Amino acid sequence: EQAAPLCGRHALVTSGPTHEPIDPVRYIANHSSGRQGHAIAAALARLGARVTLVSGPVTLADPEGVSVVRVTTAREMLAACQAALPADIAVCAAAVADWSVAAPASQKLKKAEGPTPVPAPVLTLEPNPDILATLAAPGPRRPSLVVGFAAETEAVVDHATVKRRRKGCDWIVANDVSAQGNGGRGDTFGGRQNTVHLITSSGCEDWPTMDKEAVAARLATRIARILADPFVR
Ligand code: C5P
Repeated sequence: EQAAPLCGRHALVTSGPTHEPIDPVRYIANHSSGRQGHAIAAALARLGARVTLVSGPVTLADPEGVSVVRVTTAREMLAACQAALPADIAVCAAAVADWSVAAPASQKLKKAEGPTPVPAPVLTLEPNPDILATLAAPGPRRPSLVVGFAAETEAVVDHATVKRRRKGCDWIVANDVSAQGNGGRGDTFGGRQNTVHLITSSGCEDWPTMDKEAVAARLATRIARILADPFVR
């Protein structure tokens, strides 16, 4: 096989969490480390793709040979993804916050001082855009292959199969993030290993528990294969 089967292809990868501001010093976030998404970006680059990695705030180093766009919020992530199009491949591995604060305060929210208790602030949330569903929507700029992730705690494959249709993507990489999941080792967030199922239009493949780098390499190889032979999809 070719050493660089993705040469001439552009891959867009999202990774990491998003941070949604409450005020200038506080935000809503999640435990995503960006490890899996960054590993996928690196693996696609190793197969010769030009890779744009749109990453939320992470402590990881930029993968070698990848062009990294750093963002904070889900809205910024969507804008950066759209600016990176056209792409042949989109892999949405980011743990995008589902909601943002409707009206973040421009000054730090203050605890009321004084003898009488004052009620805590109430945050009104609004839904964030769904980046995966937006990229997967039919249209001239839709990448040929759109891959999403599904972190589930129960009925992992069933929920992910429904999610594949709902989001309009081609493949879903489903992982069990329950305490019992990930081969009994628990939470995949921040961990080194991942146990995933690859859900395509033709069914579900169970992959063994592997390092996130190995999951990424296997996924990148699958992507290269499908793009070389689109009739298989
Ligand atoms: O709906 P749920 O968050 O479970 O879907 C997970 C998949 O959707 C992941 O691929 C994630 O990157 C993507 N997603 C997104 N934008 C959102 C929410 C999820 O791209 N606002």
